[in-house]
Amino acid sequence: MSRRAVIQSIGHAVPTKVLTNKDIEKIVDTSDEWIVQRTGIRERRVCDGPVECTGWLALQASQEAIARAGIDPMEIELVLCGTVSGDYIWPSTACMVQDGIGAKNAGAFDVSAACAGFIYALSNAAAMVESGQVNTALVIGVDSLSKQVNWEDRSTCILFGDAGGAVIIRAEENTDRGLLGTVLLSDGSGARFICIDVGGSRYPFGSPQAVGKREKITMMGSEVYRFAIQAMGDACLKVLDKVGMTSDQIDLFVPHQANLRIIESAAKRLNLPPEKVFLNVQKYGNTSGGSIPLALYEAEIEGKLKKGMTVMTVGFGAGLVWGANIIRW
Ligand code: UT7
Repeated sequence: MSRRAVIQSIGHAVPTKVLTNKDIEKIVDTSDEWIVQRTGIRERRVCDGPVECTGWLALQASQEAIARAGIDPMEIELVLCGTVSGDYIWPSTACMVQDGIGAKNAGAFDVSAACAGFIYALSNAAAMVESGQVNTALVIGVDSLSKQVNWEDRSTCILFGDAGGAVIIRAEENTDRGLLGTVLLSDGSGARFICIDVGGSRYPFGSPQAVGKREKITMMGSEVYRFAIQAMGDACLKVLDKVGMTSDQIDLFVPHQANLRIIESAAKRLNLPPEKVFLNVQKYGNTSGGSIPLALYEAEIEGKLKKGMTVMTVGFGAGLVWGANIIRW
């Protein structure tokens, strides 16, 4: 392929408020030991006060990505935001960012694919770049699930944190860099495993049909766990096959940071040694759509992800959805 979507820069945003496992011990009946053993999570960042929200994180991550790319926001023709915790049911958070950065030449929309939001958004934006519809795009993955969590439910509130990341992608000709391959998968029969019932058109807020339905995240943890173990490996093997590569050709593996045990299981199935697996779940928990771009950002800042390296990302989440991307950085 002569025209590719190449990542020019990456930005990130996390709230300053830290919530440790010890802090959560004061909210629900849990322990630091249980959380660390079952998930690997030690602390997470959560939005605080009325201003901090998904769009607020998305804007900061985008501004950093734009500054690091050294481009004018007027050059951006597309803003895609992978999120399931947008500022409003509608309009889209992508439009809030488009306005915030002054991207007056851009179309903007959100992609709803939960924790696979960044995988999905990047895949879609790259296809638009490769096909020549746009030349420069801003792709964001962001969520603030701390706002959707039931803080009395110990089986979910320990897991989630808030964060966002953003990349600038741009068309380049005759390069070996860019998005090399992608797989996107879904299984709506598992929708009930992780969802919020109320607030959409089926169970509108305050409607008789919403009575007794769930207004916050509810999750069947072990079902999601079993699905994730299978889905992560499957998606990676499929994308590797698609691009004609084997896992030993992957320089860095950046999986969705949901649970250390799930990541370790996927890495084992793919024969990836620990030094090729990027982890920050211990510091941030599961930040949903923000997880993969935040991990890519930290990997780059720590010098573990450099230009020319081949990175495989994989995510899974509510839908159910899952998918993987192989990127030459
Ligand atoms: O991005 C997608 C989002 N979701 C996920 O990635 C979640 C995937 N699932 C998981 O990561 C795991 O299923 C969890 C970490 C959520 C739970 O771990 P588990 O090993 O599957 O535990 P479990 O749900 O089978 O619960 C085991 C026990 C239960 O007690 P009993 O019934 O055996 O007495 C729970 O009540 O652990 C109890 N438990 C807790 N205990 C202390 C559940 N949550 C907690 C808690 N602290 N926070």
